[in-house]
Amino acid sequence: MTTQAPAQTFSVPDKWQWFTESRYGLFIHWGPYAQFGRGEQVLFREHMNQAEYADAASAWNPERFDPELWADTARKAGFKYACFTTRHHDGYCMWDSAYTDYSSAKQAPKRDFVREYIEAFRKAGLRVGLYYSWIDWRLPAYFDGPEKDPEGWAKAKEYLHNQVKELLTNYGQIDHFFFDGVWPRNADDLGSVELLEEMRKLQPNILINNRLGYSEQHDGYRADGGIGAGDSDTLGDFGTPEHLIVVDRKRLWESCQVTTWRLWSHVFGERWRPADYLLDMLVECAEKGGAHGGNLLLNVGPTADGQFPPEFVERAEAIGRWLDVHGEAIYGSDGGAITEFITRGRQTTRGNNLYLIIRFWDGRPTLRLADLATRVKGVTLLTTGQTLGFAQQGDELVIDGLPQEAPSRLFPVIRVECEGPPEANAWGKQRLWEGDPHRVAEWARAQRGTSVYRDGQER
Ligand code: GLC
Repeated sequence: MTTQAPAQTFSVPDKWQWFTESRYGLFIHWGPYAQFGRGEQVLFREHMNQAEYADAASAWNPERFDPELWADTARKAGFKYACFTTRHHDGYCMWDSAYTDYSSAKQAPKRDFVREYIEAFRKAGLRVGLYYSWIDWRLPAYFDGPEKDPEGWAKAKEYLHNQVKELLTNYGQIDHFFFDGVWPRNADDLGSVELLEEMRKLQPNILINNRLGYSEQHDGYRADGGIGAGDSDTLGDFGTPEHLIVVDRKRLWESCQVTTWRLWSHVFGERWRPADYLLDMLVECAEKGGAHGGNLLLNVGPTADGQFPPEFVERAEAIGRWLDVHGEAIYGSDGGAITEFITRGRQTTRGNNLYLIIRFWDGRPTLRLADLATRVKGVTLLTTGQTLGFAQQGDELVIDGLPQEAPSRLFPVIRVECEGPPEANAWGKQRLWEGDPHRVAEWARAQRGTSVYRDGQER
């Protein structure tokens, strides 16, 4: 009989506890591509002229970039860490790299944006992550590969390794590293396994994502090399389902999601997902994921002149205000979906508490939770701090005294304090399509009979 997805069985080392405590990170896709307002891959997607793009990128000078303002906004919005694009597929480097002059430090801005980002975010108390793309659309050797162009490939590979090591050497502690764009190479071409070892020497506490490519030489690393959804055996410390919220049962995971639609950097004329949609993704990540829950890495594409778009700030701050009140249901939560609760919203847990995150507020004074097997000690409407009445009979909990009007525009939360870690009975653990179908038959038979007639009686 299948019930809920089995809990993850691995344990999280102390040095990575911050990641599960955080739950919520900010992805920042920013570079010279923002000028075009058609996404971070505009160079390739529109098959632009490389030299003209390089001219525009080199002239790019975002004068309104204020990393402290970014960090302050991120902190208020409830993000606990961030991940910044140091170099996307266009090859333009956002730091002072010793290995190229195609960078913000050597071209128009004459600034090391990576350093400024790291210092400001760290000062605001956030953990820092770096995004780095394997792909560099400027380098033919990257695409020709080691067979066709061994010399060019050796140089390209050395360049990549040097840059990654440079990023992990010159900027103090880096908490999170997000490789991307491994196509069309694999882990053996790229020397991912060797590079990973060197990265760990430089940064013993770092968490490295899974986009490191497939390895034939290192058995067991059956990489997808791409979005990394599901229980894959790829290299890396955490899975990165992209535009998806999928549990990785073998390791930590972080779903990366846009606030808009598909593209990651600033887009002109974009439409924005509403705040409750974004918050629901965060809650879903926290709810899914068995023992350790999942994280949401929510994206922002700052404008070419260096600002977070107001549409983003408005939504992020609304979620931040919600987290100020309801954060205990998210940060450090232990996953949820304890009982079947889809008719009302989502659930998370933390220690002995069960959090009911209500999507549908129907105005009735009572809420009935079927199948909670753990004894309840107290119930609080977290949104207002109000203590709620309750009655528990067998495995049925009826909460009383709910206000008619929803107490908040975003999801209200009820905290159910239990005597031990909350658990459902067997029936409650099963979802619609799971479990013993005879249990369903018995439920129907016992309560109304067996026939198609209204009264269930056979004629
Ligand atoms: C995809 C996109 C890339 C983006 C990344 C974020 O790989 O191709 O542009 O940076 O997702 O996860």
